[in-house]
Amino acid sequence: MSERDHELRSYGRRRGRKPSARQSQLLVEDLPRLTFDPATPPQGYRQTWLEIGFGGGEHLLWQARQNPDVALIGCEPFEDGVIKVLTAVTTEELKNIRLHMGDAREIVRAIAPASIDRTFILFPDPWPKRKHRKRRLVNATLLALLARVMRPGAELRIGTDSGDYARTMLEAFALEPRFRWTAASPEDWRIRPADWPETRYDAKAVREGRPRYYFRFLRI
Ligand SMILES: C[S@@+](CC[C@H](N)C(=O)[O-])C[C@H]1O[C@@H](n2cnc3c(N)ncnc32)[C@H](O)[C@@H]1O
Repeated sequence: MSERDHELRSYGRRRGRKPSARQSQLLVEDLPRLTFDPATPPQGYRQTWLEIGFGGGEHLLWQARQNPDVALIGCEPFEDGVIKVLTAVTTEELKNIRLHMGDAREIVRAIAPASIDRTFILFPDPWPKRKHRKRRLVNATLLALLARVMRPGAELRIGTDSGDYARTMLEAFALEPRFRWTAASPEDWRIRPADWPETRYDAKAVREGRPRYYFRFLRI
């Protein structure tokens, strides 16, 4: 049995509201040309960054606007999020975003080794109930997949508002020698860096008074 046979679904729903005619057009006409193809990665960019589970796309779009010389690959199975990003990409004519509407692990398995310079996983679904914890995306399997595709020196940023998830993540990182946690003091993970914009789930955690953890790891 392969490791994939054990892989559980790490996300909730894939669809929300029925798309409007304009939104369906984005999915049918624009998504195919903007879909990331690992066989023909974007050329002519300084670096390639990967965002897993971009949700409403706030962070992905911010990074794409700030860094036009960086190619950004965004993965998200939730159709409404993909539509939000497609709307912004087509209206603003952003050139540097490619998308994968589905499970990021499918695409990470197909990416060339040491070809990713930065990865973001922001507020992954917390799966708080004990019986659902095995659905959590950030685990030893994902870290091994990312260690293969991230180049030495590449940064992996992970945000969460779940203390329990933060703990299980750090346990997984402690067992993965190819990543090193960069924090030297609590400020390094308590304070969101300036080039890490707030996402919808981050803002929700702030409103609801939950602590946030902003982790940065380096691929060794
Ligand atoms: C709690 S939301 C956070 C969204 C956004 N990053 C934010 O901070 O607002 C988690 C997102 O991760 C997505 N997700 C979960 N598992 C995923 C996977 N295997 N691949 C890609 N995205 C995934 C979900 O669909 C959901 O949109």
